[in-house]
Amino acid sequence: MDKIVVTGGGTLNGVIPISGAKNAALPLMISSLLTADPLVLENVPHLADTESLIRILTNHGVGYQVEGKRKGQNGGEGRTIHFTAGEIVDTTAPYELVSKMRASFWVIGPLLARMHEARVSLPGGCAIGTRPVDLFLESLTALGAKLDVEAGYVVATAPGGLKGAGYRFPKVSVGATHVAMMAASLARGQTVLENAAREPEIVDLARCLIAMGARISGAGTSTIVIDGVEALHGARHRVLPDRIETGTYAMAVAMTGGDVLLEGAQPDLLQAALDILVEAGVEIEPTNEGIRVRRNGSGLRPVNVSTAPFPGFPTDLQAQLMALMTRAEGDSRITETIFENRFMHVQELARLGARISLEGQSAIVHGVGHLTGAPVMATDLRASVSLVIAGLVAQGETTVNRVYHLDRGFERLEEKLRNCGARIQRVAA
Ligand code: UD1
Repeated sequence: MDKIVVTGGGTLNGVIPISGAKNAALPLMISSLLTADPLVLENVPHLADTESLIRILTNHGVGYQVEGKRKGQNGGEGRTIHFTAGEIVDTTAPYELVSKMRASFWVIGPLLARMHEARVSLPGGCAIGTRPVDLFLESLTALGAKLDVEAGYVVATAPGGLKGAGYRFPKVSVGATHVAMMAASLARGQTVLENAAREPEIVDLARCLIAMGARISGAGTSTIVIDGVEALHGARHRVLPDRIETGTYAMAVAMTGGDVLLEGAQPDLLQAALDILVEAGVEIEPTNEGIRVRRNGSGLRPVNVSTAPFPGFPTDLQAQLMALMTRAEGDSRITETIFENRFMHVQELARLGARISLEGQSAIVHGVGHLTGAPVMATDLRASVSLVIAGLVAQGETTVNRVYHLDRGFERLEEKLRNCGARIQRVAA
């Protein structure tokens, strides 16, 4: 299995192009199941997770075609992919495919809406808490589906099709909101979703569905109203920039010091995280090209942060912020409110010399003068990248094992950092 080796020291300077958002690309690709016409998605990031989802979609009968590279493209820019679900040949999403990535469970919404049946394996994904599927099942039941769990599979039917309904999510869930919105687009009558997730990726999916002929209003607020239509048609849509990748590189620059333009980044997608960086003493400047991040050797101030659904501080940047705060001048408190088991990076950061104590859902990070390189291992995607950020300033060599986690969510990570002066390389095992 590949490893990433980082040699600490030096600042980051230059330009990092921001890729299309993984967490938007996945539901957008899944929405291709809703129509027999081609859905053309631009700026699709090339990641292990998007490749796994392509395998799942093709198993259902979706054809796909990657547009040829244009002259001058370096191959790293997001791809344009045509997805065509002319005929759904199989409404089962098998365990072997779904267990690799939790979001693949989301095919249940479109399959049920279009085919009135689906058999989808219960999901796998990052080991960050129990991550149940009750909200998916409850909201689809509200839309008239009949659901059973049999031998690890959710078996869903909706004879005569889904029917619009009112449903209030008892807890904010990004995935369950995506699924309910897709399903309701083809239901008979009106659906009103309350306490819906407000993440930018929800807005991006709604925009794409609207371009496909769906009637949706309120996406981006906590009440989404969907008037079902008989059929959807093809569309062309560009995936929005990845706010988690943006925040991750912003924290990397905050860690090392330097001056980097995050090209194509949109500040409104991660204002809460940018505000925290400013509080910590980092210079953040929105420009016409993206976001410029600078720190010039001054010390980092500690911060007090709780993760929260959008527009709050994203749980997907919690590990990276923790890595950064290991070098702050004082004690920070970081509280995780979304996932119950998302502190596995703590013991690995400790291997690099970080001093972090856990108090229930909170981590108290005692800033230390320096970190020291060591072999480390991560058990989830965002935790892995937090170790890379720490490695950028740790004295000596940090080896991050289990790199497949990074490949699930970060496009060309080593190349992007290396182009800004980082000493980082992938070593094939
Ligand atoms: C999405 C993101 C993930 C991010 C998370 C929270 C994608 C592909 N993944 O994951 O990167 O960390 O949002 O911003 O977009 N829950 C239930 N029952 C359910 C569903 C969820 O209790 O049926 C709980 C979860 O365990 C968690 C909370 O709700 O505690 C939020 O999870 P959710 O928003 O659903 O996360 P995902 O959509 O899986």
